[in-house]
Amino acid sequence: MPENTDLFEIIHNTRAMRRLKPDPVPDALIRKILQAGVCAPNGGNTQRWRFLVIKDRAIKKKVQVWYKKAFDEVVGPRYLKSTPPPGVTKDAYVRQHAAVEYLTDHFHEAPVWIVACIEEAGAPTRWSGASIYPAVQNMLLAARALGLGATLTTRHLLFEKETEAALGLPPGVHSYAILPIGYPMGKFGPVGRGPLGDIVYQDRWGQPYREV
Ligand SMILES: Cc1cc2nc3c(=O)[nH]c(=O)nc-3n(C[C@H](O)[C@H](O)[C@H](O)COP(=O)(O)O)c2cc1C
Repeated sequence: MPENTDLFEIIHNTRAMRRLKPDPVPDALIRKILQAGVCAPNGGNTQRWRFLVIKDRAIKKKVQVWYKKAFDEVVGPRYLKSTPPPGVTKDAYVRQHAAVEYLTDHFHEAPVWIVACIEEAGAPTRWSGASIYPAVQNMLLAARALGLGATLTTRHLLFEKETEAALGLPPGVHSYAILPIGYPMGKFGPVGRGPLGDIVYQDRWGQPYREV
């Protein structure tokens, strides 16, 4: 367990940890992460979320093939044309690209995946997303607090049918994220974000937020 579990400290340095060791993660820690997930708010407390824990390398490899295809055909070329987002230096952005590519090649080697799903009859809506991503964020924070690295990934959805078939999801279940989890190779560090002044308004759209 890391020494500092102050909530704000954890929030500020829960970033995507894409380089993971293949060493196994104790089930007791995965249980803690899942337990944190189900503490999250969800619409009407209907709890239609389902979490598929995957350790089977053969299943992960099947999905990784599509994850890589999505990188080669869509994400990689898009990255080449993009510029650093607010609060991120050029160097940090280059390092992020390298880490994204690393995870692409090693996705299946993360010892544990948690696939966050919802059971729903119709097509996914904003409400369905709003009922699963709080649980996902709780799990990312819990993993960080336990000294484990993780990344919220959704790229498999570029090949949704193929990857959900590889994951063995039954009809009426949609996946919203795959979290590869493991002990990180590198160190945790602060996230890079732009200043609040650029994105928070008060009373009228575009009018700067004023703190008194
Ligand atoms: C909706 C969503 C989808 C994402 N999908 C992926 C993904 O498929 N692969 C990946 O490596 N990172 C993915 N990420 C992680 C983001 O790239 C990451 O949060 C962002 O670059 C900021 O980096 P940081 O959290 O390390 O500061 C995703 C994040 C979100 C919120």
